[in-house]
Formats: sequence, structure tokens, C-alpha cells
Amino acid sequence: MTDLAREVGRRRTFAIISHPDAGKTTLTEKLLYFSGAIQNAGTVKGKKGGKFATSDWMDIEKQRGISVASSVMQFDYRDHVVNLLDTPGHQDFSEDTYRVLTAVDSALMVIDAAKGVEAQTIKLLNVCRLRNTPIITLMNKLDREVRDSLELLDEVESVLEIRCAPITWPIGMGKTFRGVYSILTDTVLLFTPGKGPLDEVEIIEGLNNPRLDELFPLEIENTRMELELVRGASHPFVLEEFLSGDLTPVFFGSAINNFGIREILNALVDWAPSPGDANATVRTISPTEEKFSAFVFKIQANMDPKHRDRIAFLRVCSGEFTRGMKFRHLRLNREIAANSVVTFMAQGREQVEEAYAGDIIGLPNHGNIQIGDSFSEGELLAFTGIPYFAPEMFRIVRIKNPLKIKQLQKGLQQLGEEGAVQVFKPLNGSDLILGAVGVLQFEVVASRLANEYGVEAVFESTTIYTARWVSCEDAKMLDDFEGQLVNNLGRDAANSLAYLATSRVNLQLTQERWPKIVFHATREHA
Ligand code: G4P
Repeated sequence: MTDLAREVGRRRTFAIISHPDAGKTTLTEKLLYFSGAIQNAGTVKGKKGGKFATSDWMDIEKQRGISVASSVMQFDYRDHVVNLLDTPGHQDFSEDTYRVLTAVDSALMVIDAAKGVEAQTIKLLNVCRLRNTPIITLMNKLDREVRDSLELLDEVESVLEIRCAPITWPIGMGKTFRGVYSILTDTVLLFTPGKGPLDEVEIIEGLNNPRLDELFPLEIENTRMELELVRGASHPFVLEEFLSGDLTPVFFGSAINNFGIREILNALVDWAPSPGDANATVRTISPTEEKFSAFVFKIQANMDPKHRDRIAFLRVCSGEFTRGMKFRHLRLNREIAANSVVTFMAQGREQVEEAYAGDIIGLPNHGNIQIGDSFSEGELLAFTGIPYFAPEMFRIVRIKNPLKIKQLQKGLQQLGEEGAVQVFKPLNGSDLILGAVGVLQFEVVASRLANEYGVEAVFESTTIYTARWVSCEDAKMLDDFEGQLVNNLGRDAANSLAYLATSRVNLQLTQERWPKIVFHATREHA
């Protein structure tokens, strides 16, 4: 095996998907703690070992404070290099989250076992399904009164349409939570809250071990009965089915009590895939090709308030990145010397010395990089599959001081490229239109326009209901379409043409009237 193949083979790049409050932040800390990346849990994010309160999201500087520490975390575990990509928790930033999921090879789905499958989990899982991303599931908070385990599996299977293979099974719950039975190894792991990674944990061999009847006769009897049912009703773990995204291994645990963390890390290393092939316009790129290539899945502005730069997050797709190397920015066809590229460790950012497929590197820039851009040392290629989603909310932007129009345009252009908001320039020359997936995005944009560009903008409601990017094989037809519907068309930050519909009916009628024009609900990078 070559060194490159060895490096790729030991990488695991994943994200946690969950509904807010299911325990993502807690689990992130515990994964870092059990891998040895941090000395005790509670150091990753400020404020009593928890996360920032939701209200702090309004405080934009603080919001970036979170991101600095947590956008990407790299740590070692069992001779593997694990990249954990954070997904913005607030549902208003879901568009950003969707794109983060294009940069991972697997996902860890955390479900609050008291609540079951929740709205945000459904959305995120659907995005994973677009790429058949393998999913590992953790049913969290077993130390609380939770729902019946079989019912939870049933809900995952029916709502999320993915088969469940329980790997562990809980013994009791809430006040009588005793531990988990490992179906694969026929052992019982006793629940002892708060054990650290180096502490010994008691393991009892065999489900029928009489010691279990001595310790908790009621709960173990119940578990034995449940397991009879489970064996008939659930699916055995088959690695290929997991890798194709059809089956999810399910673990039960309690993140806050450090219980079930090691099992998740082991599953990631043992079962989750190392970086695979990446699709590009010309051909498929293998991670072990010698020439370096990467794509941008996220851009974040001014992460460090001391440096007014923007960081483009690149997922390496092939080859080896080394500090100071040169590669091409393919859209601009310009060479870049990567001297100040950063990597993201558990405790902050550091200079990258080398990186391989699956790793995330950060490239500081001054606004000439867009989401979806590709970089390569070799041939011209463009990675595909990095989506923009049609916004669901719209606002017209006006400014208080007309002399600031240049700053407004510049600010919105940059925020649009970053994917913070979508900006449409109406073809008829009227005021710029902003499109977002969540309303909070508008507030973030207003605040950033004021702080970073010195522009006070006012957002007003519009009659626009939805946007669809349009394309047509027949250029003349597209010209006619543009000419006739100039009042309903705009161009986004990447200059792609979009139809701005005033209602569902309006969209439908237009589609019927123009059958050769294709209306897209998502746009890939141009
Ligand atoms: P999120 O990032 O998915 O939004 O969830 P987070 O980890 O912040 O967890 C949400 C709440 O659930 C937190 O409580 C956290 O302590 C709690 N939690 C996480 N894992 C477990 C678990 O295994 N068992 C129990 N009982 N609770 C768990 P909070 O009171 O909202 O916040 P905090 O003040 O404790 O930080």
C-alpha cells in the first residue's frame, strides 16, 4: 500500500445530524474527550460546559466565536484521523448545514429517545439520502424516562425509511437504567455514569449470566423478553447495507453520562467508510490520485475579528496538500500559493503542514472564492453536487443613505457568495431582493451589513413566493423567456437566472406556458 492510500484509508470524515436539543453539543465534547483531544469535557464551548444560549445567536460576534472552535474538529482515535464537521444548530441555517453534508463520508444521527424522530432530523436525513451517506444512530438520554425502544426503532424505520440494526439494547431506563446489552458480542456493559476514557468499566459476559439476575432481576428479565421480539422484528447488521445507506446500526446511550461514547467512536473507525470517489464534470476523482484536488463547501467571514478575512473551507478530494504548494482556482483560472492555509483542531486553528482526502483545510481570501469552487493541481475539473436551495422567504433591500449604494452592493455580493443569503438582482433594475431559508438569516445579514460594510439597510416584504433557477437547451427560447418575463426574473450572486414567482399558481402557469424551460428548485454551482 502506498503512503497516500494508507493516509486516505485511516481517515473518517463525518457530521452529527440531529434536532436541536437532542445532545449534539454534548456528544461532540464527549467524542473529543474520549479520543483524548481534550482533557475534560466542557472545554470546547464556553458557558458552563454547555453551548451558547439561543439568544446569543443574535450576537453575531459570539456566533462566530462558536464557529471558530467548532466548524471543523480534527482528532486522532485508534490510529485514525477523524474529522468532525459541525452543522449549524439553528434551523434557519439549514442551507449551510445541507452543504456541510456534501463534504462528509458518513453521519451520526442523534435522537432524543424521549422524543423520537423530530422535524429537523427528517430534513437532514433526506439530504444524506441524496448521496446515500451511511448513517450511525445514537438513541440518547437513556438516563431519562424515554420511549419504548422497539417503538423508537419502528419510528425510524417508518418515518426515515431506513432499516435499523440494533447493536446495543438498553436495560431499563431513567432511574432504573442499568446499562446496555451488546448484541454482537453477547456482553452487558453496566451503566456507571461519569466514567472517563481511562476508567475501567464493568462488563458481564452473556445475557443469561446469573449475576445479572442478582443485580437487577426485573430489568434484565424485561430486556430478555424484548430481545426475543427484537430478534424477530429488526435487521442484523450487514456492513454493505450500512455503506449503501440502507441500514443504520443503532446504539443506546447517554452522552451527558459518558455512556456509549466509545462504542460510537469504534463504530466510526470500524465501519464508517474512508473517503471515496468524488464526482466532477470531467470524470470521477479517486482519493488516492497523486494530484491534489478540493472543493469549497462553506465560506465564513471574519472568523477572527482581528483579521478581516474570509475563510473558504475546502474538502480535500485527492492527493496530498503540503504547505506552500501551488494549485489552481479553476473558475478564475488563477494559481494560488497556499502559504497560510489553516486546519482546525479541537482547540482552534493551526497551520496545516499536510492534508489528505477527507481533511478540511481553510483558505483565507478576500472574496474571490465562492461556494462550490474547485481547486486542483492537475487538469481542469469542477466538482459537482454542491447545492443551493431555492429560498422560501424574500425581502426587498433598501438603504437609508443612498450614497452608500456601492457598499450595499459590495456587501450583498460578498454575503451572497458566502451563501449567508441569496441575492437576486431583478432584470428590470428594481431594488435587490434577498432570499433565505430561515428568517434569522435576514437579521444576520442586516447586522453584518451594518458592522462590516457600514450600511444601514431596511428590509421590506415582497410579493415573491418562491424562486426557481431556469435553464433551456434552446438559447433563443431562453432569450424570448427573458424578454417577456423581465419583471419576474433576476440573477443571483453567481449570475444564474432565476424566475421569481408570486404564487404557486403563478409558477405553475408559467411552467405550463413555457414547457421547454426547465425550472430547478436547487442550483449547483455554475
Ligand atoms: P444540541 O447541541 O443538540 O442542541 O444539544 P445539547 O448537547 O446542548 O443538549 C441539550 C440538553 O440535553 C442539554 O441540557 C444537555 O445537558 C442535555 N443532555 C445531553 N445529553 C443528555 C443525556 O444523555 N441525558 C440527559 N438527561 N440530558 C442530556 P440543557 O439543560 O438544555 O443545557 P445545559 O445547561 O445542561 O448545558
